[in-house]
Amino acid sequence: MCGIVGYVGNRPSLGVLIGGLRRLEYRGYDSAGVAMIDAGGRLSTHKRAGKLNVLTEELTASPIADGTTGIGHTRWATHGGPTDRNAHPHLGDDGKLAVIHNGIIENFSALKEELVGEGFTFASETDTEVAAVLLGREYRETGDLTLAFRRVVGRLHGAFTLLALHEDQPGVVVGARRNSPLVIGLGEGENFLGSDVAAFVEHTRRAVAIGQDQIVTIRPDAIEVTDFEGNAVETHPFEIDWNPAAADKGGWSSFMAKEISEEPDAVANTMRGRIADGQVSLPELDGVGSVLADADRVLILACGTAAYAGMLGKYALEKWAGVPVDVELSHEFRYREPVIGPRTVVVSISQSGETMDTLMAVKYARERGATTLSICNTQGATIARESDAALYTHAGPEVAVASTKAFVAQVTALYLLALHLASVRSHLDETQLRDALDELGALPDKLRTVLETAEEIQELARGMSDTRSVLFLGRHVGYPIALEGALKLKELAYIHAEGFAAGELKHGPIALIEPGQRVFVVVPSPRDSNSLHPKVVSNIQEIRARGAHIIAIAEQGDVAVLPFADDVIRIPLTAALFEPLLSVVPLQIFAMELAAAKGLDVDQPRNLAKSVTVE
Ligand code: G6P
Repeated sequence: MCGIVGYVGNRPSLGVLIGGLRRLEYRGYDSAGVAMIDAGGRLSTHKRAGKLNVLTEELTASPIADGTTGIGHTRWATHGGPTDRNAHPHLGDDGKLAVIHNGIIENFSALKEELVGEGFTFASETDTEVAAVLLGREYRETGDLTLAFRRVVGRLHGAFTLLALHEDQPGVVVGARRNSPLVIGLGEGENFLGSDVAAFVEHTRRAVAIGQDQIVTIRPDAIEVTDFEGNAVETHPFEIDWNPAAADKGGWSSFMAKEISEEPDAVANTMRGRIADGQVSLPELDGVGSVLADADRVLILACGTAAYAGMLGKYALEKWAGVPVDVELSHEFRYREPVIGPRTVVVSISQSGETMDTLMAVKYARERGATTLSICNTQGATIARESDAALYTHAGPEVAVASTKAFVAQVTALYLLALHLASVRSHLDETQLRDALDELGALPDKLRTVLETAEEIQELARGMSDTRSVLFLGRHVGYPIALEGALKLKELAYIHAEGFAAGELKHGPIALIEPGQRVFVVVPSPRDSNSLHPKVVSNIQEIRARGAHIIAIAEQGDVAVLPFADDVIRIPLTAALFEPLLSVVPLQIFAMELAAAKGLDVDQPRNLAKSVTVE
């Protein structure tokens, strides 16, 4: 977690740093800080516990001397609580060197003990300050920040992106990364560093991703990348295709409201250019084409909302491509002895492409001979680069911490993958493929129709703002949506919520039902010949008989639910597998509106961070 930004160039750095931190605040918001080498050549550091606004308000009230070299940090606390003292940057012992950090230095206690033994003192409880003191010590001997880094990185275990600057080297910011992300933004007479491209996309669209175990030195007119031993590394600039305005609220009350409104575009953009002549075209998978054709198993790895997208991918891949699929939480996967082989295709899903649990699981699978394919939303992301092939979703930047538009884009990408595999493996005939692609193509308009129910859902949410517990039920593809609906409510509104497979109800959860218990039920279409509709309606009756208050998400024209539901939210007609892409939206809106009704910050829920870069 934590967001990192660095700048060297020709304009005042403070505005660049604060702008970058604002776009990275989704990564953590316990405290924020900046360090700059001011016009007088002195290091100045400012940091405060709390959200970035606390720092910016203070800097507005008492302006500080600015310079053209600086680093900035927004924190998600790991070692040491979210206090002013533990906020980054941290200083070397001479007070001339400042360091910011994302990750965890696992051996910091031993290093600290060693440094205390040498007489160094510490002002914070953080692991980061150990790196700052070590760098300060090595700087004294080498007189060069890059060389100091080279000496220090080998001593650090764990995950880190570190950025540092030193008063005696104005116009230089040095960074190093292991297991945490770092990207360079290439400007004219200025260069940037960021945890991801959002940090600098408003200034430049050209970027370079820093690889594992590399050190980068940026100056206004040059960048230098080496490995930890100092050997030069070739860089490969790429163009960022995000519109910088996409990372602004654009008049919406929250990023989340804006991002939900962008779901039709997220789906359309993820499909764009990938469907032609009744076929799915995914040239980015050419390198792994033969493995995909011969795979005997697909293993999907992800966390959080992305894992629920993965569950939907299982239904699609099994039905359309006839390949067995398992879905696992990344953090549960690699700590046993999973059976994987050369014909296992591991599909990882991650909006950020930086989730540490997923990254480590992908590496583990690759080392054991699996072919790895990642579905990511952020360009240049580590998981994409660590995989054999990457399929990008094109949802645009997702800033609100809880994922919404990235989810529908992930499901779209998985469905494209499933339909691609269906043709490669000749599992669907031409008509079946065309029908599925037609349904997919019709989704953006149907999503627009669902968004028209927003006001109705807002009213429902306002009426439930004192609710303490909500249950969500679904079957088949409605089950992952029940899980996602519950997750959204927990994340945003801090309400106890649980999702269940409706068939599991009578095996335990029905004991929770008491008069007035609110239950959302995702109702499948009655038109599907294999429909589970009658079974779900029976489940509704069972809990209704015990006093539950039912809110049904049902397709237009389904009258069978009317006698048993207290509220019905309608979604347009589509084929069974596509229903979840529509039924998830009312649940996202509901959680957002309930949180807003409780006066909560829907974009930055307590204790969470968008990109979880620690295990
Ligand atoms: C965090 C976020 C979730 C997200 C999950 C996976 O927990 O709060 O919203 O679903 O990480 O993130 P990823 O970037 O890997 O999709």
